[in-house]
Amino acid sequence: MNKAKIAGLAYSVPDRVVTNHDLETMMDTTDEWIQTRSGIKERRWVEEGMSNSGMVLPACKKAIKDAGIEPEDLDAIIVGTVSSDYNFPGMAPMLQQQLGIKTNISAFDISAACSAFIYLLEIGNQFIQTGKYKNILLVGSDVMSCLLDKSPAGRATGVLFGDGGGAAVLQPTEGESYILSTHTYADGSGVEMLKAEAPGSIFYPNRIDSDIVAKGHHLPFQNGREVFKNAVVRMPESINVALKHNNLSIEDVSLVIAHQANYRILKTVAKRMDISMDKMYVNIHKYGNTTAGTIPIAMCEALAEGKFKKGDIIVLTAFGAGYTWASSIIRW
Ligand code: UT7
Repeated sequence: MNKAKIAGLAYSVPDRVVTNHDLETMMDTTDEWIQTRSGIKERRWVEEGMSNSGMVLPACKKAIKDAGIEPEDLDAIIVGTVSSDYNFPGMAPMLQQQLGIKTNISAFDISAACSAFIYLLEIGNQFIQTGKYKNILLVGSDVMSCLLDKSPAGRATGVLFGDGGGAAVLQPTEGESYILSTHTYADGSGVEMLKAEAPGSIFYPNRIDSDIVAKGHHLPFQNGREVFKNAVVRMPESINVALKHNNLSIEDVSLVIAHQANYRILKTVAKRMDISMDKMYVNIHKYGNTTAGTIPIAMCEALAEGKFKKGDIIVLTAFGAGYTWASSIIRW
């Protein structure tokens, strides 16, 4: 069985910074509430006219270049997002076109919300392991700002999310730097706890109309406390499964990169794993929750900051809508 390495990795976030103070002027909220409850200080929002694929395209190009290949060398593009450019088709064929790829490769999207990037690693890893593909572009990216209710009524979710994405190129390797494991899970009993219903066939004969919009079914809803309670159990649980699977202990790990949804969640996970916050990467204060984007963005920044280096063991973990959750261990 082949092993897969991350040969290229990059991220893109919009230039436009939206601070908590900016949100105070739109929503019935305060900088103090947002920082205390979530750890977020600011986030990025795209400018009008910028779609998700346009935002993440520079990251795709950079990841491809870093992997030492041309776009035409890709065998597959797989995107994880909840904020695709169109309702359909998926964003992957759009990126194929924007990258100028003329060959008829495999290109599709998956919907696994905040856990999407680790789900993508699992799918990509399998394609490399079986020998089916040699160069796979994985993209985790969301433009959450176009999903949010930016009025006072939307403050419970409106302050938490931001825009951003990342891309990774997977390739086969015979070296010691590779994806050691992925574990992905779901528990559909959590479906109603974090969702945006419309456009959706549940509203048959339409998927979306003015009545559905007037009732706010297209806006994200979150039972924050329930999601929080599950996140702080499931992420440590899946990390422990991954450590055991690889015969490793948490002492062997250089850095834990967890989905950035809430600083308090990161602190609780660190406590439950009995690690100091030095081992838990944090950048939520800068970007908020970018859904499928948090893990690749955090990986890029942690690497640039020297938080891990070649040969180090890193753990990825995420939890989100579905519920879905996941972990992965990589030897860099
Ligand atoms: O990425 C996907 C996974 N998502 C997560 O992991 C998120 C998990 N959940 C959380 O991070 C937290 O539950 C939140 C940050 C969403 C909320 O924190 P909380 O401590 O659970 O607050 P709460 O929802 O229980 O709200 C507490 C109070 C409420 O007022 P009352 O009922 O106590 O009077 C809310 O109405 O805070 C109020 N509130 C706000 N106040 C000011 C809610 N949103 C805001 C706001 N500004 N933006």
